[in-house]
Amino acid sequence: MLLIIACYCLLTRKPNQFPPGPKFLPIVGNINILRHIKVLKFHHLLWHHISKLYGPVVGLKFFHKYVVIVSSKEAIREVYSRDELNGRPDGFFFRVRTFERRLGVVFTDGHYWENQRRFSATTLKHLGVGKFSMAKHIENEAEELIKEFFNKAENNESFYMHSAFDISVLNLMWVLLKGERFKLSDQRLIDLVAAVHKNFQVLDMSGGILNLFPFIRYIIPELSGYKELVDTMRPIWDFLQQEIEKIEENFNPQTEPKCFIEAYLKEIQNHKGVESYFTYEQLHGICIDFIQAGSETTANSLGFAILYMLHHPKIMKKVQVELMSIVGVNTLPKLSDRPKLKYTDAVISEVQRCANIAPLGIAHRAVTDAKLDGFLIPKDSTILCNLYSLNMDEKNWKNPTEFMPERFLNDDGDLVYPDYFIPFGMGKRRCIGENVAKSSLFLFFASTMHTFTPYCIGELPSLTGIDGISLAPKPFKVLLRRRF
Ligand code: HEM
Repeated sequence: MLLIIACYCLLTRKPNQFPPGPKFLPIVGNINILRHIKVLKFHHLLWHHISKLYGPVVGLKFFHKYVVIVSSKEAIREVYSRDELNGRPDGFFFRVRTFERRLGVVFTDGHYWENQRRFSATTLKHLGVGKFSMAKHIENEAEELIKEFFNKAENNESFYMHSAFDISVLNLMWVLLKGERFKLSDQRLIDLVAAVHKNFQVLDMSGGILNLFPFIRYIIPELSGYKELVDTMRPIWDFLQQEIEKIEENFNPQTEPKCFIEAYLKEIQNHKGVESYFTYEQLHGICIDFIQAGSETTANSLGFAILYMLHHPKIMKKVQVELMSIVGVNTLPKLSDRPKLKYTDAVISEVQRCANIAPLGIAHRAVTDAKLDGFLIPKDSTILCNLYSLNMDEKNWKNPTEFMPERFLNDDGDLVYPDYFIPFGMGKRRCIGENVAKSSLFLFFASTMHTFTPYCIGELPSLTGIDGISLAPKPFKVLLRRRF
């Protein structure tokens, strides 16, 4: 009996100064709490609920893995600003995307990540991100999309709006990676987008069962999610393989690179014969990161933006009045109009706050034992910063569940962003694509709202999206009516 009690105590013991949280069960830890997802439907809502019970820093354990949920603005800022909490979780689940190796920028850390992130950010700048040339690409892409919408409006054709921006947004990623765009009707790109969507819904930011027990994929490949994960990654791997091979065929390292892939190939050449981080596999890893991190988040934000407008027709009208007064008839908005379109910008920010497209950001990892809010976070704990809790905290926002774009405007009508509004994260891990994302969110949304009024066909879906690494709007169909 004594032995049983001793074993029980040992198996349920928490590390010293571990953050508060539910009791550990022997061996499985807190796996039992995951059953609440059936009712709550979303991972971030479960973590939000747990934080309400235990506080802004909650410690959990899933089998042998510690997971820390962080939900107050002070604690989240601390995680984002400290090197020892800025790592990324490792494990089979995070490696599956990149040939079972730790590659890319999103799920690497340490010197490797620093080196590759620096190269990626500098190359994006050289390719015109944040400058006139990228603005031209975004304006061109918006124009093509509006032409497509125009045809549908002329033919009175209803279509799915939640996914209508997918191809255009992916095209922008492709312009950066390969310097080319696809036709919006290109079947290869349509298939690629479908795979990226599905892939994001398979993934769970904490890593799930596959990360805890990778061997399980051999026993129950379908039930463990492994088969679906690989099936949804394969089209992305194949697409990149073919496209990178095509670039290599005509690649001349002596000329100025026209796109990210060429710049990277040049770097591989420059490092030939010496040990280096610049490899073909790593190039694939970064391309996968850009395609996944860049397209899904931006396209879903735009889908949500239109859905919010359908739910709030008076706000939609106000956006359209502002656009008409600044942009005028028979022309599309330009990025240079943005400083004058403050209400439109405030609406986009409010969509980001309310829709919580990346509700848990991207998981962090404690690279050493570290203190947070007076608690001890053991080395290698996964840290989930609940941006949803931050965006819905009554201490930060007046009536947080209400859609009120005015909260981002001061009495003079100027935009104001509180320092706890961080949809792109902050610190050294801050989103690399923030600039492209903000410009494309603005221009695609403003161009659509200026040119058309959408009407929902069928039942208007609720604003609660579909769970995944990034939340997706539920499917909805619209008919567009031209405004001029
Ligand atoms: C509305 C659109 C977007 C949102 C809401 C968004 C949000 C985020 C967030 C919350 C993070 C994690 C920050 C953290 O770890 O603490 C992140 C990281 C990242 N994002 Fe974005 N993002 C968007 C668009 C993009 C685009 C267009 C690109 C590509 C050009 C991109 C590339 C990345 C990459 C590579 C990282 C990882 C950075 C690192 O780990 O060092 N994102 N993003």
